[in-house]
Formats: sequence, C-alpha cells, structure tokens
Amino acid sequence: MTRSFRDKLGEGGFGAVYQGKLRSGPFVAIKMLSKSKGNGQDFINEVATIGRIHHTNVVRLIGFCFEGSKRALVYEFMPNGSLDKYISSREDAISLTYKQMYEISLGVARGIAYLHEGCDMQILHFDIKPHNILLDENFIPKVSDFGLAKLYPNDMSIVTLTAARGTIGYMAPELFYQNIGGVSYKADVYSFGMLLMEMASKRRNLNPHADRSSQLFFPFWIYNQLIEEKDIEMDELTNEEMINVKKMFITALWCIQLKPSDRPSMNKVIEMLEGNIENIEMPPKPSLYPNETIQNDLEETSDEIESDADDDSVSFLKETKS
Ligand SMILES: Nc1ncnc2c1ncn2[C@@H]1O[C@H](COP(=O)(O)OP(=O)(O)OP(=O)(O)O)[C@@H](O)[C@H]1O
Ligand SMILES: [Mg+2]
Repeated sequence: MTRSFRDKLGEGGFGAVYQGKLRSGPFVAIKMLSKSKGNGQDFINEVATIGRIHHTNVVRLIGFCFEGSKRALVYEFMPNGSLDKYISSREDAISLTYKQMYEISLGVARGIAYLHEGCDMQILHFDIKPHNILLDENFIPKVSDFGLAKLYPNDMSIVTLTAARGTIGYMAPELFYQNIGGVSYKADVYSFGMLLMEMASKRRNLNPHADRSSQLFFPFWIYNQLIEEKDIEMDELTNEEMINVKKMFITALWCIQLKPSDRPSMNKVIEMLEGNIENIEMPPKPSLYPNETIQNDLEETSDEIESDADDDSVSFLKETKS
C-alpha cells in the first residue's frame, strides 16, 4: 500500500507522512503516529468521530490502522501539497494569484468555522498554520490535523517548536500568558489571522532579513500603512484585487488582537471577507505582549470568555493544558 514507505511527504510533530495508493485506486497520505496515548479505545473513538466529519474545506480521514502500539491515519491525498509552499520569501516559492489566495482564505475560514460551529461537537484545532492547510487538484483548501491533539498524551513528545501545542508565529498569546483571558476557539481565530496576513502579503510575517526594523514584523508595518492611508506597495494589483487584499489585511488585524474577546468568530470573519470593505472598521493597533491596559479590564473579559466557550472545549482544554 505504501511501497515500503519510500515516498515520504514530510514530517511533523506527530510523526512522518507517506504517500500510498489504495488497492481500489486512489492515492492516500498515511500519517504514522509516533506515540499516542491510552489503550487504543480512545484512539478508535476519536478517529470514529473525526472520520464522520464531512466538509469541502476539511480534509477527509478515510481510514486508520491500529496494530499493537502502531497507529496510523489514512487521509485523502492532496496533490498540490500544503500552503507553506506558496507563502515564502524564498526564490523557489510557487506563486498563486491574489484571486486564488482570496478564494483559499475564504475556504480555510469556512473549514475552521465548520469545526467550531458546524458539527455536533466543537473542535478546536490549536495548530492552524500554512503546513496544515492542504490543497487539492483545484486548489480547494482543506484544513488538516484537527482533532490530533486529542489523540496525544500531554507530555513533551508532541512539542515541535514551543512548550505547548502550536507553532511559534501562529500561537495565540493566551496560550502562554495567563493574564489575557481564557483559552477558547478564539485561539484558532488568532492563528487564522496570522495565516491570513501571510496569504494577503504572500510572505512570512516575520522577516529576519528586513533592512529596516519597521519591516521586521509585517503586521505592525501593514497596520501603519493602512492607518495612514498610504498605498500598500505591492505587485501590480487590479482594483478588485486591491480591495480583496485590503479586506484580508483588516480582517487579519482583527483576528490577531491580543484580547480574545476583541477577535471575531470565524463566521464573522467570513462575513468580513465576503462583505463590503466600507463595512469593516479599522481595529486598534495589535500588540504582541500583554500590558497594564489589559490587566485593568481583565475581569470583564474573563467572564465573557468563560461563557462563550462551551463545556466540551473546556474539558478538552484541561486535558491538553494541565
Ligand atoms: N493528505 C495529504 N496529502 C498530501 N500531502 C500531505 C498530506 N498530509 C500531509 N502532507 C504533507 O506532509 C507534510 C508533513 O505533515 P505533518 O502534518 O506531519 O507536519 P506539519 O503539518 O508540518 O506539522 P504538524 O505536526 O503541526 O501538523 C505536510 O507539510 C504536507 O506537505
Ligand atoms: Mg500537519
């Protein structure tokens, strides 16, 4: 089925991914989980739940293997790979058009909105980033690796770049600062915002090679450009492309607000991206670190967050955070 695991597609925090082919014809991607928790019943329950999820913008889990301590997940194969290939400052990055980027961002937003609000249980992803957005033959985006956090023990084995689940550059600040507010679906909104910013600019947010320090962190730079109504220096854009790119930037700036309660829901994000640009207000300047102003109005926000995260997500969070 996997030609003895010769065609490796990549490797992430949970194990390696290989290309395979089912006897019935279709290509698949097989993720070999390196170390998972429990006696296997958890694994089967979880996989059975995730396997029932159907949405155009969510990758399909088509099967799983479970033999002794070996566990693997079988997904539909995505011929255009993951979005990170298309967002990069590297010379060999493949370019997508702005129209494609806009369409992809809407698809990703729909996929995450579905995980948050569209299925029986609320699914929080906690690792939204370009590598986890896969593209099919028509560049329709599919959110992948949702629900994987639940299959993992809470030890250091799943840690890739940080001390908690997630990836630096996309991880919501409330995951590492205690004083901003509770952890909820708004953590995914934050990660989506960082991703959206990168899609609109077709580059990484953090550019260590920037010649001016003002350009080091792209979201701050773009905020200043927009607030001063300066033209955004970008490739030749048609009017329509410029409007969509601006909508993507402003929406992204809302999503990366420090306080979870200031960020929109994913359904609101879809509305902002699809709607008229005049209807979107400019958000306050985003900041990366909590400061006194946040301390001061903390009490009201923490109440709010507790009430808008449902019970499911809370117990899940206890599992992954303790
Ligand atoms: N269904 C798939 N079809 C095609 N390529 C895939 C598929 N799933 C994963 N890949 C490729 O394999 C690579 C590794 O995936 P993996 O999910 O293990 O790591 P990651 O996404 O970089 O990090 P994380 O562990 O946080 O998800 C991906 O970047 C992607 O390019
Ligand atoms: Mg992945």
